[in-house]
Amino acid sequence: MNTVDDVKMVEFRDFGDERGKLVVIEGSRDIPFEIERVFYIYDSDHDIIRGQHANRQSEFVLINVSGRSKVKVYDGKNSKIFSLDKPMTGVYLPSMIWKDMYDFSEDSVLLVLASAHYDESEYIREKEVYEKLMHAQNGD
Ligand code: TYD
Repeated sequence: MNTVDDVKMVEFRDFGDERGKLVVIEGSRDIPFEIERVFYIYDSDHDIIRGQHANRQSEFVLINVSGRSKVKVYDGKNSKIFSLDKPMTGVYLPSMIWKDMYDFSEDSVLLVLASAHYDESEYIREKEVYEKLMHAQNGD
């Protein structure tokens, strides 16, 4: 069972030279899964909270390729906050972690790499349902 201790910051290779910067992310090499889906979130106001769900199977890497945001992760017991503010740094989220994305700067472009195609049935969008599942697995 995954916990917030399995959520990790990831540093990517940055091939910067006098022409500018170039960051490379290769599936299964720089991140622990093959990339099946890419989406990005922008134009979210500062006071908006996105995410607010957990995924039964999908794993994610979140990168603010522009601007800043924060990700709060929760495993039914503990929570941690990660700040995303560099194009060469992301955060890896394994499956079954509750996530809230918030504090978006005006120029925030939050790139998300996902391990699976979109499937609404693997989303858990009710926090009480998620907590019950996690507590049952914990034997709480
Ligand atoms: P949602 O999961 O609420 O986004 P966030 O995690 O940022 O809060 O998704 C918003 C809408 O977009 C919802 O109707 C589902 C749809 N969607 C897709 O069709 N495919 C996708 O890959 C994603 C992430 C969302």
